[in-house]
Amino acid sequence: MPALSPPDERGYRATALAHPNIALIKYWGNRDPYWRWPANGSFSFNLAGLWTRTQVHFRPDLAHDVLWLHGERQGGDALRRVVRVLDATRARAGLTWRAEVVSENNFPMAAGIASSASAFAALAVAAAAAAGLQLPEPELSRLARLGSGSAARSVPGGFVEWRVGTDERDSFAYTFAPPEHWPLADCIAVVQTKPKAVGSSAGHDLADTSPLQAARIADTPRRLALIRQAVRTRDFELLAHVVELDTHLMHAVMQTSTPPLFYWTPESVRVMHQVRAWRQAGHPVAYTLDAGPNVHVLCPAEHAEAMAQQLRVMPGVQQVLLARVGGPARVVPTELAA
Ligand code: PMV
Repeated sequence: MPALSPPDERGYRATALAHPNIALIKYWGNRDPYWRWPANGSFSFNLAGLWTRTQVHFRPDLAHDVLWLHGERQGGDALRRVVRVLDATRARAGLTWRAEVVSENNFPMAAGIASSASAFAALAVAAAAAAGLQLPEPELSRLARLGSGSAARSVPGGFVEWRVGTDERDSFAYTFAPPEHWPLADCIAVVQTKPKAVGSSAGHDLADTSPLQAARIADTPRRLALIRQAVRTRDFELLAHVVELDTHLMHAVMQTSTPPLFYWTPESVRVMHQVRAWRQAGHPVAYTLDAGPNVHVLCPAEHAEAMAQQLRVMPGVQQVLLARVGGPARVVPTELAA
Protein backbone atom coordinates (compact mmCIF):
# COMPACT_ATOMS: atom_id res chain seq x y z
CA MET A 1 0.00 0.00 0.00
CA PRO A 2 1.44 3.46 -0.84
CA ALA A 3 1.89 6.12 1.83
CA LEU A 4 -1.54 7.72 1.84
CA SER A 5 -2.49 11.19 2.93
CA PRO A 6 -4.47 12.56 4.58
CA PRO A 7 -4.74 9.62 7.01
CA ASP A 8 -8.29 8.68 7.93
CA GLU A 9 -9.19 5.64 10.05
CA ARG A 10 -12.24 4.90 7.80
CA GLY A 11 -10.35 5.04 4.55
CA TYR A 12 -8.44 7.44 2.36
CA ARG A 13 -9.97 10.65 1.16
CA ALA A 14 -9.12 13.84 -0.68
CA THR A 15 -11.04 16.72 -2.23
CA ALA A 16 -10.11 18.67 -5.36
CA LEU A 17 -11.44 21.68 -7.23
CA ALA A 18 -11.24 22.26 -10.99
CA HIS A 19 -12.50 24.86 -13.43
CA PRO A 20 -14.24 24.16 -16.73
CA ASN A 21 -12.48 25.48 -19.83
CA ILE A 22 -13.51 27.09 -23.09
CA ALA A 23 -11.82 25.77 -26.23
CA LEU A 24 -10.43 28.36 -28.65
CA ILE A 25 -9.45 25.51 -30.99
CA LYS A 26 -11.94 22.67 -30.58
CA TYR A 27 -11.49 18.96 -30.12
CA TRP A 28 -14.10 17.00 -32.12
CA GLY A 29 -13.75 13.33 -32.95
CA ASN A 30 -11.40 10.63 -31.64
CA ARG A 31 -8.64 8.54 -33.17
CA ASP A 32 -9.44 6.01 -30.47
CA PRO A 33 -12.71 6.51 -28.57
CA TYR A 34 -11.85 4.00 -25.81
CA TRP A 35 -8.79 6.01 -24.78
CA ARG A 36 -10.30 9.34 -25.85
CA TRP A 37 -7.23 9.88 -27.99
CA PRO A 38 -8.34 12.92 -29.98
CA ALA A 39 -8.56 13.43 -33.74
CA ASN A 40 -6.83 16.82 -33.43
CA GLY A 41 -4.93 19.05 -31.02
CA SER A 42 -6.90 21.74 -29.16
CA PHE A 43 -6.34 24.91 -27.13
CA SER A 44 -8.38 26.49 -24.32
CA PHE A 45 -8.38 28.65 -21.23
CA ASN A 46 -9.76 27.72 -17.83
CA LEU A 47 -12.77 29.58 -16.48
CA ALA A 48 -12.08 31.10 -13.04
CA GLY A 49 -15.15 31.58 -10.84
CA LEU A 50 -16.84 28.45 -12.18
CA TRP A 51 -15.83 25.19 -10.54
CA THR A 52 -16.53 21.57 -9.71
CA ARG A 53 -15.55 20.34 -6.26
CA THR A 54 -15.19 16.60 -5.81
CA GLN A 55 -14.31 14.40 -2.86
CA VAL A 56 -13.09 10.84 -3.35
CA HIS A 57 -13.18 8.50 -0.38
CA PHE A 58 -11.73 4.99 -0.84
CA ARG A 59 -13.39 2.83 1.83
CA PRO A 60 -12.92 -0.78 2.94
CA ASP A 61 -16.66 -1.29 3.53
CA LEU A 62 -18.00 -0.54 0.01
CA ALA A 63 -18.94 -3.27 -2.48
CA HIS A 64 -19.29 -0.82 -5.40
CA ASP A 65 -18.22 2.68 -6.33
CA VAL A 66 -20.91 5.23 -5.47
CA LEU A 67 -21.38 8.65 -7.10
CA TRP A 68 -23.33 11.57 -5.63
CA LEU A 69 -23.94 14.73 -7.62
CA HIS A 70 -25.65 17.56 -5.76
CA GLY A 71 -26.91 15.05 -3.21
CA GLU A 72 -28.45 12.75 -5.83
CA ARG A 73 -27.09 9.27 -6.41
CA GLN A 74 -26.01 8.73 -10.02
CA GLY A 75 -25.85 5.57 -12.14
CA GLY A 76 -25.64 4.77 -15.86
CA ASP A 77 -23.11 6.46 -18.09
CA ALA A 78 -22.03 9.07 -15.51
CA LEU A 79 -21.10 6.35 -13.00
CA ARG A 80 -19.41 4.18 -15.67
CA ARG A 81 -17.13 7.05 -16.67
CA VAL A 82 -16.25 7.78 -13.04
CA VAL A 83 -15.45 4.09 -12.46
CA ARG A 84 -13.10 4.19 -15.48
CA VAL A 85 -11.01 6.92 -13.81
CA LEU A 86 -11.18 5.23 -10.40
CA ASP A 87 -10.11 1.87 -11.90
CA ALA A 88 -7.10 3.48 -13.60
CA THR A 89 -6.19 5.16 -10.28
CA ARG A 90 -6.59 1.93 -8.30
CA ALA A 91 -4.48 0.00 -10.81
CA ARG A 92 -1.61 2.47 -10.40
CA ALA A 93 -1.87 2.60 -6.61
CA GLY A 94 -2.38 -1.15 -6.05
CA LEU A 95 -5.61 -0.35 -4.22
CA THR A 96 -8.71 -2.54 -4.32
CA TRP A 97 -11.13 -0.53 -2.16
CA ARG A 98 -14.19 1.00 -3.82
CA ALA A 99 -14.87 4.71 -3.48
CA GLU A 100 -17.62 7.09 -2.56
CA VAL A 101 -17.43 10.16 -4.83
CA VAL A 102 -19.27 13.33 -3.84
CA SER A 103 -19.39 16.15 -6.36
CA GLU A 104 -20.93 19.58 -6.80
CA ASN A 105 -20.77 22.39 -9.39
CA ASN A 106 -21.39 26.09 -8.85
CA PHE A 107 -22.75 26.54 -12.41
CA PRO A 108 -25.61 25.04 -14.48
CA MET A 109 -24.77 21.63 -15.86
CA ALA A 110 -25.18 20.42 -19.45
CA ALA A 111 -26.12 22.80 -22.30
CA GLY A 112 -22.54 23.27 -23.40
CA ILE A 113 -20.87 24.69 -20.30
CA ALA A 114 -18.53 21.74 -20.23
CA SER A 115 -19.29 20.48 -16.73
CA SER A 116 -17.61 17.20 -17.72
CA ALA A 117 -14.24 18.97 -18.13
CA SER A 118 -14.16 20.33 -14.58
CA ALA A 119 -15.85 17.19 -13.21
CA PHE A 120 -13.25 14.73 -14.50
CA ALA A 121 -10.29 17.04 -13.81
CA ALA A 122 -11.43 17.38 -10.18
CA LEU A 123 -12.09 13.63 -9.99
CA ALA A 124 -8.64 12.68 -11.34
CA VAL A 125 -6.81 15.04 -8.96
CA ALA A 126 -8.90 13.99 -5.93
CA ALA A 127 -8.68 10.26 -6.74
CA ALA A 128 -4.90 10.34 -7.22
CA ALA A 129 -4.42 12.29 -3.96
CA ALA A 130 -6.77 10.01 -2.01
CA ALA A 131 -4.90 6.95 -3.32
CA GLY A 132 -1.59 8.45 -2.19
CA LEU A 133 -0.24 8.86 -5.72
CA GLN A 134 2.00 11.81 -6.46
CA LEU A 135 1.49 12.00 -10.20
CA PRO A 136 3.14 14.62 -12.40
CA GLU A 137 0.71 16.99 -14.14
CA PRO A 138 0.85 15.21 -17.55
CA GLU A 139 -0.21 11.96 -15.85
CA LEU A 140 -3.12 13.69 -14.08
CA SER A 141 -4.16 15.26 -17.40
CA ARG A 142 -4.11 11.84 -19.07
CA LEU A 143 -6.10 10.30 -16.18
CA ALA A 144 -8.77 13.03 -16.45
CA ARG A 145 -8.90 12.46 -20.23
CA LEU A 146 -10.20 8.91 -19.69
CA GLY A 147 -13.46 10.38 -18.31
CA SER A 148 -13.84 13.27 -20.78
CA GLY A 149 -11.41 14.47 -23.42
CA SER A 150 -11.72 18.17 -22.62
CA ALA A 151 -11.03 17.38 -18.93
CA ALA A 152 -7.38 16.84 -19.93
CA ARG A 153 -7.25 20.62 -20.49
CA SER A 154 -8.76 21.52 -17.08
CA VAL A 155 -5.84 19.98 -15.16
CA PRO A 156 -3.12 22.57 -16.04
CA GLY A 157 -3.79 26.27 -15.37
CA GLY A 158 -4.25 29.30 -17.62
CA PHE A 159 -4.01 29.02 -21.42
CA VAL A 160 -3.67 25.34 -22.21
CA GLU A 161 -2.76 23.26 -25.25
CA TRP A 162 -3.67 19.58 -25.52
CA ARG A 163 -1.35 17.92 -28.00
CA VAL A 164 -2.52 14.89 -29.95
CA GLY A 165 0.74 13.06 -29.19
CA THR A 166 2.18 10.10 -31.06
CA ASP A 167 -0.10 7.65 -29.24
CA GLU A 168 -2.61 7.82 -26.40
CA ARG A 169 0.13 7.63 -23.76
CA ASP A 170 1.66 10.98 -24.64
CA SER A 171 -1.58 12.81 -25.40
CA PHE A 172 -1.97 15.29 -22.52
CA ALA A 173 -2.40 19.01 -21.93
CA TYR A 174 0.13 21.56 -20.64
CA THR A 175 0.12 25.26 -19.73
CA PHE A 176 1.01 27.42 -22.73
CA ALA A 177 0.76 30.67 -20.71
CA PRO A 178 -0.27 31.39 -17.10
CA PRO A 179 -3.64 33.09 -16.31
CA GLU A 180 -2.06 36.52 -15.70
CA HIS A 181 -0.41 36.50 -19.17
CA TRP A 182 -3.54 37.98 -20.79
CA PRO A 183 -6.59 39.12 -18.76
CA LEU A 184 -9.42 37.88 -20.98
CA ALA A 185 -12.98 37.12 -19.97
CA ASP A 186 -15.71 34.75 -21.12
CA CYS A 187 -19.26 36.16 -20.82
CA ILE A 188 -21.41 33.05 -21.24
CA ALA A 189 -24.80 33.98 -22.68
CA VAL A 190 -27.07 31.18 -21.46
CA VAL A 191 -29.98 30.76 -23.88
CA GLN A 192 -30.96 27.25 -22.77
CA THR A 193 -30.38 25.26 -19.58
CA LYS A 194 -32.03 21.92 -20.38
CA PRO A 195 -29.65 19.02 -21.12
CA LYS A 196 -28.68 18.69 -24.77
CA ALA A 197 -30.26 15.91 -26.85
CA VAL A 198 -26.92 14.45 -28.04
CA GLY A 199 -24.00 14.54 -25.63
CA SER A 200 -20.46 15.12 -26.82
CA SER A 201 -19.33 11.47 -26.42
CA ALA A 202 -21.99 10.35 -28.94
CA GLY A 203 -21.19 13.41 -31.07
CA HIS A 204 -17.46 12.54 -31.29
CA ASP A 205 -18.43 9.14 -32.70
CA LEU A 206 -20.32 10.83 -35.58
CA ALA A 207 -17.51 13.21 -36.59
CA ASP A 208 -16.02 10.89 -39.21
CA THR A 209 -19.38 10.58 -41.00
CA SER A 210 -19.00 14.22 -42.12
CA PRO A 211 -17.14 14.74 -45.41
CA LEU A 212 -15.80 17.96 -43.87
CA GLN A 213 -14.04 16.38 -40.86
CA ALA A 214 -10.89 15.42 -42.81
CA ALA A 215 -10.46 19.00 -44.06
CA ARG A 216 -11.05 20.42 -40.56
CA ILE A 217 -8.38 18.12 -39.10
CA ALA A 218 -5.90 18.77 -41.91
CA ASP A 219 -6.11 22.53 -41.24
CA THR A 220 -5.83 22.26 -37.42
CA PRO A 221 -2.01 22.67 -37.16
CA ARG A 222 -2.36 26.00 -38.99
CA ARG A 223 -5.11 27.24 -36.67
CA LEU A 224 -3.15 26.06 -33.62
CA ALA A 225 -0.11 28.03 -34.81
CA LEU A 226 -2.31 31.12 -35.25
CA ILE A 227 -3.90 30.82 -31.80
CA ARG A 228 -0.47 30.37 -30.18
CA GLN A 229 0.67 33.51 -31.98
CA ALA A 230 -2.49 35.42 -30.95
CA VAL A 231 -2.05 34.46 -27.28
CA ARG A 232 1.72 34.97 -27.26
CA THR A 233 1.38 38.50 -28.69
CA ARG A 234 -2.01 39.29 -27.03
CA ASP A 235 -3.50 40.02 -30.46
CA PHE A 236 -7.28 40.10 -29.94
CA GLU A 237 -8.12 40.68 -33.59
CA LEU A 238 -6.24 37.56 -34.64
CA LEU A 239 -7.79 35.60 -31.77
CA ALA A 240 -11.30 36.66 -32.86
CA HIS A 241 -10.63 35.58 -36.45
CA VAL A 242 -9.24 32.14 -35.54
CA VAL A 243 -11.73 31.36 -32.76
CA GLU A 244 -14.79 32.13 -34.90
CA LEU A 245 -13.36 30.23 -37.88
CA ASP A 246 -12.69 27.22 -35.66
CA THR A 247 -16.23 27.34 -34.23
CA HIS A 248 -17.74 27.46 -37.71
CA LEU A 249 -15.59 24.54 -38.86
CA MET A 250 -16.62 22.34 -35.91
CA HIS A 251 -20.31 23.19 -36.27
CA ALA A 252 -20.10 22.61 -40.05
CA VAL A 253 -18.83 19.09 -39.27
CA MET A 254 -21.60 18.57 -36.71
CA GLN A 255 -24.29 19.80 -39.11
CA THR A 256 -23.03 17.59 -41.96
CA SER A 257 -22.61 14.36 -40.00
CA THR A 258 -25.08 11.47 -40.30
CA PRO A 259 -27.37 12.00 -38.46
CA PRO A 260 -26.76 15.77 -38.41
CA LEU A 261 -26.31 17.60 -35.10
CA PHE A 262 -27.71 21.12 -34.76
CA TYR A 263 -26.72 22.70 -31.48
CA TRP A 264 -27.50 26.33 -32.38
CA THR A 265 -30.91 27.85 -31.67
CA PRO A 266 -32.34 31.10 -33.14
CA GLU A 267 -31.24 32.80 -29.87
CA SER A 268 -27.64 31.58 -30.35
CA VAL A 269 -27.56 32.96 -33.89
CA ARG A 270 -28.98 36.29 -32.75
CA VAL A 271 -26.16 36.67 -30.21
CA MET A 272 -23.56 35.67 -32.83
CA HIS A 273 -24.81 38.35 -35.23
CA GLN A 274 -24.81 40.95 -32.45
CA VAL A 275 -21.21 40.10 -31.49
CA ARG A 276 -20.10 40.55 -35.11
CA ALA A 277 -21.91 43.90 -35.26
CA TRP A 278 -20.17 45.04 -32.06
CA ARG A 279 -16.81 44.02 -33.50
CA GLN A 280 -17.49 45.86 -36.73
CA ALA A 281 -18.24 48.91 -34.59
CA GLY A 282 -14.72 48.62 -33.14
CA HIS A 283 -15.27 46.60 -29.92
CA PRO A 284 -12.82 43.75 -29.15
CA VAL A 285 -15.28 40.84 -28.86
CA ALA A 286 -15.63 37.36 -30.38
CA TYR A 287 -17.88 34.31 -29.95
CA THR A 288 -17.47 30.58 -29.71
CA LEU A 289 -19.94 27.72 -29.08
CA ASP A 290 -19.27 24.18 -27.81
CA ALA A 291 -21.65 21.25 -28.25
CA GLY A 292 -24.61 23.32 -27.08
CA PRO A 293 -26.57 26.51 -27.83
CA ASN A 294 -25.00 28.84 -25.26
CA VAL A 295 -22.72 31.50 -26.68
CA HIS A 296 -19.32 32.17 -25.10
CA VAL A 297 -18.57 35.83 -25.74
CA LEU A 298 -14.85 36.53 -25.32
CA CYS A 299 -13.41 39.98 -24.62
CA PRO A 300 -10.61 41.71 -22.67
CA ALA A 301 -11.45 41.51 -18.95
CA GLU A 302 -11.77 45.30 -18.60
CA HIS A 303 -14.80 45.22 -20.96
CA ALA A 304 -16.45 42.17 -19.39
CA GLU A 305 -18.93 43.92 -17.05
CA ALA A 306 -20.19 46.24 -19.79
CA MET A 307 -20.41 43.33 -22.24
CA ALA A 308 -22.34 41.18 -19.75
CA GLN A 309 -24.81 44.07 -19.20
CA GLN A 310 -25.44 44.38 -22.94
CA LEU A 311 -25.94 40.62 -23.32
CA ARG A 312 -28.34 40.43 -20.33
CA VAL A 313 -30.86 42.70 -22.04
CA MET A 314 -30.89 40.73 -25.30
CA PRO A 315 -34.08 38.78 -26.03
CA GLY A 316 -33.67 35.04 -25.32
CA VAL A 317 -30.65 35.48 -23.04
CA GLN A 318 -31.69 33.97 -19.69
CA GLN A 319 -28.51 34.57 -17.75
CA VAL A 320 -24.91 35.68 -18.27
CA LEU A 321 -22.08 33.93 -16.40
CA LEU A 322 -18.80 35.80 -16.21
CA ALA A 323 -15.44 34.05 -15.97
CA ARG A 324 -11.83 35.17 -16.22
CA VAL A 325 -8.78 33.03 -16.99
CA GLY A 326 -8.43 30.42 -14.25
CA GLY A 327 -5.75 28.36 -12.56
CA PRO A 328 -5.10 24.60 -12.42
CA ALA A 329 -7.07 21.79 -10.80
CA ARG A 330 -5.89 21.43 -7.21
CA VAL A 331 -6.39 19.60 -3.91
CA VAL A 332 -8.45 21.62 -1.41
CA PRO A 333 -9.05 20.94 2.30
CA THR A 334 -12.89 20.98 2.25
CA GLU A 335 -14.83 17.91 3.35
CA LEU A 336 -18.10 17.22 1.53
CA ALA A 337 -21.09 15.25 2.81
CA ALA A 338 -23.16 13.11 0.41
O1 PMV B 1 -14.65 16.43 -23.63
P1 PMV B 1 -15.94 16.22 -24.32
O2 PMV B 1 -16.16 14.80 -24.73
O3 PMV B 1 -17.09 16.78 -23.54
O4 PMV B 1 -15.88 17.03 -25.71
C1 PMV B 1 -15.77 18.43 -25.78
C2 PMV B 1 -16.12 18.91 -27.12
C3 PMV B 1 -16.24 20.42 -27.28
O5 PMV B 1 -16.57 21.05 -26.07
C4 PMV B 1 -17.34 20.68 -28.28
C5 PMV B 1 -14.95 21.01 -27.86
C6 PMV B 1 -13.80 21.16 -26.89
O6 PMV B 1 -12.66 21.03 -27.37
O7 PMV B 1 -14.01 21.44 -25.71
